[in-house]
Amino acid sequence: MVKSGVLMSLVDTARAVREKAYAPYSNFKVGAAIRATSGTVYAGVNVENVAYPEGTCAEAGAIAAMIAGGDTRIAEVAVIADSPIPVSPCGGCRQKLAEFSDGSVKVTLATTDGLLHQTTVADLLPGVFSADYMTRT
Ligand code: THU
Repeated sequence: MVKSGVLMSLVDTARAVREKAYAPYSNFKVGAAIRATSGTVYAGVNVENVAYPEGTCAEAGAIAAMIAGGDTRIAEVAVIADSPIPVSPCGGCRQKLAEFSDGSVKVTLATTDGLLHQTTVADLLPGVFSADYMTRT
């Protein structure tokens, strides 16, 4: 859980936490911030590992913080990196976000230079796998 006053946007929160990312292998720090439907804001960063596949994405960290904080529904997301165009969440993170979001949830993708792209969870992951596929009626 992080402090996020009304004057601090979700992008600002993601930007601030990004500095703490542990990315010595890619040198690509990512910050993510989630506002849960309760209003509480959770932040996460990518955490790499010398065994490369063991690294985790910023979105996964923010989701883990949200669950540990007792929230299970996402209201809004922001992700930021020092990328030439607003950073695109990886496929796995899109599915992870979809687990806790309605399709209409707003996702702001940002660069540290100030470029923004706004999209939604549904637009990021058309054809999402959902529990509906697991239930025969
Ligand atoms: N990364 C994220 O944290 N989130 C994304 O959505 C894309 C990629 C991280 C994983 C890895 O630590 C670094 O960025 C380079 O792929």
